[in-house]
Amino acid sequence: MLIKTPKGWELPEGKATPETIYQDRRAILRGMAAVGLVGSAAMTGLPRALLAAPAAAGSSLYPVPRNDRYTVSRPLTDEKIVTTYNNFYEFGSHKEIHSAAQKLETSPWTVTIDGMVEKEQQLDIDDLLARMPLEERLYRHRCVEAWSMVVPWSGFPMKELVKLAAPLSSAKYVVMETFEDSAMASGQRQFWYPWPYTEGLTMEEATNDLAFLVTGLYGKPLPKQNGAPLRLAVPWKYGFKHAKSLVRFHFTDKRPVSFWENLAKSEYGFWANINPEVPHPRWSQATERDIGTGERIPTVLYNGYGDYVADLYKDMKGEALFM
Ligand code: MTE
Repeated sequence: MLIKTPKGWELPEGKATPETIYQDRRAILRGMAAVGLVGSAAMTGLPRALLAAPAAAGSSLYPVPRNDRYTVSRPLTDEKIVTTYNNFYEFGSHKEIHSAAQKLETSPWTVTIDGMVEKEQQLDIDDLLARMPLEERLYRHRCVEAWSMVVPWSGFPMKELVKLAAPLSSAKYVVMETFEDSAMASGQRQFWYPWPYTEGLTMEEATNDLAFLVTGLYGKPLPKQNGAPLRLAVPWKYGFKHAKSLVRFHFTDKRPVSFWENLAKSEYGFWANINPEVPHPRWSQATERDIGTGERIPTVLYNGYGDYVADLYKDMKGEALFM
C-alpha cells in the first residue's frame, strides 16, 4: 500500500508555523500592503513565498474600450502565439523567452520623466495608469526579421504622456529606456550588448496619433514577455523600435543612438520605417510571414499606416528613413 507522507511544503502555512508567528506575519503583511510595500521582499527580509503575489499593474482596469479607428482587416493572431513567440534580449536571444521573462519583477515599478521638461517627475506605474485614458487598438506588428502579427494592444496615446511631461520647446527627441537589472535578466550579463535597451522618437513621431504606450494585451494586463508593465507600439516602424518594460522617458535635443543602431548601424537605423522596397542588407523586406496564419504576404509601405505618418517625413532629404 502506498502511504503518502505530506512534505513540509505541502502543509498549509497555518499548520507549518507556530500560531503566534503566523498571526504576526499576517499583521505585518497587512501593514505592508497599507504602505504599498507588498511585493518588495528584499525590503523586509521575509521569504518571498510569504508575500502575496503582487497584482499586475492596473489589473482591475481591463478590459478597456476598443477604439474602432484602429482596426485591421487581417485576422487577429492567436493569443498563445503572441505571448510565446517573442524578442526580448534581456532574457535570451531566441524566441522562447516567455518562461525566463517571468523573473521580471514589475511591482513596484517607477517611471522617470526627465531631461528637457518643465519639471522632472517619478511616477508609480499604477498612478500613471490611473491618469491615462486607456483604450484598445488592433495594430499590425511587423518585425525587421520579416514576420508579422495582428495584435490587440491596450494602452494610451503617447502624446498623453508627452503632455504630462510638459517638454521644453527645445526638446527634439524622446528617448526610452528599458529596466536594467542583470539579477533578473540573465541576458544583461552579456556585457557586449549596450544595455539598457534604448530607443528614440522625434517629438513629432511621439505625438503622432498612432504612437501608443502599451499596458495590456487581449483585454488583460501586459504579460512580462511582451514588455510589462509599459512598452511602445509604433506600427509604421519595425518591431525593434517597440522598446519593452520602460522605466525612463528622457527629453533631449540630441538624437539618441538606439540599442540596435549601436550594435550594427548599417543594419538597424534610427528611423526604421517599414518599406518593402528597401531591403535589409542581408534579406528582402518585400514580403512577411504572418505568424498566425503561416501565409507569406506582401509588405506595405509604412505597414499600411501612410495616411497617418507619411507627412512626417515628406521634407526629409538624405535621411535613411527605411532602415
Ligand atoms: N525591447 C527590449 N527591451 N528588448 C528587446 O530585445 N526586442 C524588440 C522589441 N522590443 C526587444 C524590445 C524586437 S526586435 C521586437 S520584434 C519586439 O520587441 C517584439 O515584441 P513582441 O515580443 O511583443 O512581439
